[in-house]
Amino acid sequence: MYKILEAEMLADKIYLMVVEAPRIAKSCEPGEFVIVRMDEKGERIPLTICDIDREAGTITIVFQIVGASTYRIAGLGVGDAFLDVVGPLGQPSEFVKEDLETVKKRKYLFVAGGVGTAPVYPQVKWMHEHGIEADVIVGAKNKDLVILEERMEQVAGTLYVTTDDGSYKRKGMVTQVIQDLVDEGKKYDVCVAIGPMIMMKFVCKLTKELGIPTIVSMNPIMVDGTGMCGACRLTVGDEVKFACVDGPEFDGHLVDFDQAMKRQQMYKTEEGRAMLKAQEGDTHHGGCGNCR
Ligand code: NAD
Ligand code: FES
Repeated sequence: MYKILEAEMLADKIYLMVVEAPRIAKSCEPGEFVIVRMDEKGERIPLTICDIDREAGTITIVFQIVGASTYRIAGLGVGDAFLDVVGPLGQPSEFVKEDLETVKKRKYLFVAGGVGTAPVYPQVKWMHEHGIEADVIVGAKNKDLVILEERMEQVAGTLYVTTDDGSYKRKGMVTQVIQDLVDEGKKYDVCVAIGPMIMMKFVCKLTKELGIPTIVSMNPIMVDGTGMCGACRLTVGDEVKFACVDGPEFDGHLVDFDQAMKRQQMYKTEEGRAMLKAQEGDTHHGGCGNCR
């Protein structure tokens, strides 16, 4: 059992929990994710890790209520426990594996949209811990939906907060801020954009025009997170990839977002899943080992 040590509502339907998971905390890196299961009846929910405390042996997860399972999890409190927390899964962010001196020479721009602020935070924190000052844009629909601002402020080089309705700090979507910063003369070598699919699609459209290589996280299309269900299949360049095994992070300029979003919608219904199977054959990655 994985005990919940802290539980906090960050905003409407968005929750943060600190969970005792020493083995995961010992080895996990930014970009990786865990799968949580509340009890025997609970669905497997893939969640990117928001923070790690290796000494305390804890990980922090942030989730939004999007269905029955996340609604039930939101009802858990301090002292309750998850039946399973499996991880770390997926691949760490690319910069974690690269030569540190090379990474230090680059100017990074992190773009976090809504709940996507949670997976961006450990990446910016990693940068800070390695002496790299990254610029960060956090976008939310309105003031009440801005999350993790104080934590982000402590690790970001410069933090730009923007709201769609202008109720807090700047007004406009994250793409507007990227354009404004570039117009002001800022230069970026890499952009990391994590948030809703539509945001990542439009950030990539813009950064392609601006010539800024961009990494995105395809966590939103994951379902079982094991390479078995086939939900997270996507096309990156001319290759078929699976977000949960090969990702979740990919070169955003090569991701076919329209196809990924269409598949995501189709995967929600039995009819859609049958159609995908008919069109694509065995859509799963082969995590079972029987069909590779
Ligand atoms: P949201 O809809 O409030 O959007 C957040 C911000 O994204 C907006 O404030 C805006 O600045 C920007 N944005 C949205 N649409 C845009 C567009 N068309 N062009 C440019 N910018 C745009 O976000 P939310 O409700 O918090 O998002 C929830 C979604 O985030 C869920 O679907 C979830 O799957 C996804 N999510 C993704 C990740 C990931 O790893 N990519 C992680 C957590 C959550
Ligand atoms: Fe099921 Fe990736 S989430 S195969």
